Amino acid sequence: MAKSKTVFVCQNCGVQSARWIGKCPSCNEWNTYIEEIIHRESTDKKALFKISPSVPQLITDIDISEEKRINTHSVEFNRVIGGGLVPGSLVLIGGEPGIGKSTLLLQIALNLKKLKILYISGEESVQQIKLRAERLGINNENCYILSETLLEDIFIHIEKLNPDIIIIDSIQTLHTGNIESSAGNISQIRECTSSILRFAKELSKPVLLIGHINKEGNLAGPKVLEHIVDTVLQFEGDQNYMYRILRATKNRFGSTSELGIYEMQGNGLREVSNPSELLLSQNDDNLSGTAISATIEGVRPFLIEVQALVGSAAYSLPQRSSTGFDLRRLSMLLAVLEKRAGFRLAAKDVFLNIAGGIKVADPAIDLAVIIAIFSSNKDISISKNMCFAGEIGLSGEIRAVSRVEQRISEAEKLGFKQIFISKYNKKGTNLSKYNIKISFVSKVEEVFKLLF
Ligand code: TYD
Ligand code: MG
Repeated sequence: MAKSKTVFVCQNCGVQSARWIGKCPSCNEWNTYIEEIIHRESTDKKALFKISPSVPQLITDIDISEEKRINTHSVEFNRVIGGGLVPGSLVLIGGEPGIGKSTLLLQIALNLKKLKILYISGEESVQQIKLRAERLGINNENCYILSETLLEDIFIHIEKLNPDIIIIDSIQTLHTGNIESSAGNISQIRECTSSILRFAKELSKPVLLIGHINKEGNLAGPKVLEHIVDTVLQFEGDQNYMYRILRATKNRFGSTSELGIYEMQGNGLREVSNPSELLLSQNDDNLSGTAISATIEGVRPFLIEVQALVGSAAYSLPQRSSTGFDLRRLSMLLAVLEKRAGFRLAAKDVFLNIAGGIKVADPAIDLAVIIAIFSSNKDISISKNMCFAGEIGLSGEIRAVSRVEQRISEAEKLGFKQIFISKYNKKGTNLSKYNIKISFVSKVEEVFKLLF
């Protein structure tokens, strides 16, 4: 007979307890314990599907020839996952509601014309998915749609249909009969994901899973989920901008530094192969308060416009606001400016914005940030033909940045006439091959003298 037991599970970190607790001793969150009933199946543990028992193999005997990656026909997606889908891998895609996760995966499914795809949705009806496909304007005769949420039934359909790729939208809507809590609870998510993982490995088929994120921006059904899957992708962007960025935060089969950029259009997501063109504003006038930075996200160089506005503080507490750039880093740069360039911090409001609504973590943007601020403060514009790449240290020194040659080449390719970089980048850089003027600087005072 199946035994059942009641446990209280923290919905934040998955820790179990025999009784209800107000504050989780593991993750310190309040009010996260929910009662869940777990059936212990004493008879057939592998009821979900049959697994053949594994036997130890010599590493030299293991054949990897069949582990060929599947080309998804999406350059950006392939790049982010490390060159194609690995058979038997479980890929989780997280992102805010409405960012375009379902659109992205449906588009990938519809573009894979030669393979049999099964798209399982627990969120939308088959008609709704058909409408979306019509909107995308892609036709595919090999794509099956299933609206189902019970995992046991899903496995039956998969075994019957034998698809090459399985897409599940979303993990939070799935549930298994083994656990008696509602779909979306942490035990359900954990149980379903690990069953799907075993299933994917057993059949050697890639599974793409969509996951919701919670209000803090983490994947709901938190870390447990990220530990189980092979690859975690984040699909992010600003609702007000049309750009969407896909990045890997965990990847067992590739690097996590790659970025994929898309633009949401009326008929689906368009891949953006030259991001700099989007991120530089199109106006030709020289305005004060803007400076262009040669940054690198992942392994791709970008040129991004930094915009600053400095005004006299209207209240005793000066305002600081920053979009796309770390606010604490901005405070540090302002302190450097005060010390090195006589910028009167306490009397100024400072607003900073990275054009295009993207977030930049590359420290090489520092130099463009302080130049934009100084330019706005003095109301002197910077030529649109110049760009900057340098990290600022606390004493106002301009530090070397990584992969400087890639930045210089990108700036040259986009028609910039001059680039400012740290003099510590001089060593090991082959300058003779560039036509762009390269100015080496070592201190912020020095750059200001050159520019203003
Ligand atoms: P969706 O894929 O449903 O988001 P998610 O699955 O992440 O919740 O995308 C929803 C948004 O995308 C919705 O606001 C409409 C917009 N959209 C377009 O702009 N163009 C399109 O071609 C499609 C299909 C959606
Ligand atoms: Mg969706």
